[in-house]
Amino acid sequence: MVGSAGSNEKVNLLKTKFGFDNAFNYKSDTDIAAALKRCLPDGIDIYFDNVGGATLDAVLLHMRRRGRVAVCGMISQYNLEEPYGVRNLSVVIPKALRVEGISFVDYFDLYPKFEEDMAAYIKEGKVAVVEDIAEGFESAPAALLGLFSGSNVGKQLVVITRV
Ligand SMILES: NC(=O)c1ccc[n+]([C@@H]2O[C@H](COP(=O)([O-])OP(=O)(O)OC[C@H]3O[C@@H](n4cnc5c(N)ncnc54)[C@H](OP(=O)(O)O)[C@@H]3O)[C@@H](O)[C@H]2O)c1
Repeated sequence: MVGSAGSNEKVNLLKTKFGFDNAFNYKSDTDIAAALKRCLPDGIDIYFDNVGGATLDAVLLHMRRRGRVAVCGMISQYNLEEPYGVRNLSVVIPKALRVEGISFVDYFDLYPKFEEDMAAYIKEGKVAVVEDIAEGFESAPAALLGLFSGSNVGKQLVVITRV
């Protein structure tokens, strides 16, 4: 499993805390195609997309035949006047790729079970957690904007009040 992140601190966390075999910093390793070839010389079977744009474009070329792309987010494409035009989409045909969007709204009914299962996994150490906690409602706008510059390292939370 290989990940990409925007700082060396995050790259190290992927490798040391989150069980990734390898990871690269897409901000310093700007040739994403070369980074993919180096980290995944045999190609990609499954790509979990949280970024979209140029990363998705490079990944498509590096997918193995009959690979799967789960599209969860495209954070590089939000709030742009002109979104990046993905150029390599046609490889979906010869590579027989399956590309599928997933949205949490379709799984609300499973939330209580998710909460119960995930709490147990975290307690048992099966799932690692890193959180960034901002204090107070007034810190919420900055915390939200920080997602787009990558200033959060872990899951960004905002504490409204402590009881
Ligand atoms: N499908 C769904 O139901 C669903 C629900 C919620 C969220 N999402 C999506 O899931 C993804 C992660 O969301 P999250 O709330 O968990 O946030 P997150 O991963 O905690 O924070 C967003 C991270 O994205 C990276 N980023 C920001 N701008 C970027 C860019 N232009 N190119 C590449 N990376 C960029 C930053 O890290 P770096 O330092 O690595 O750049 C930032 O820390 C987002 O795409 C979001 O839209 C999907």
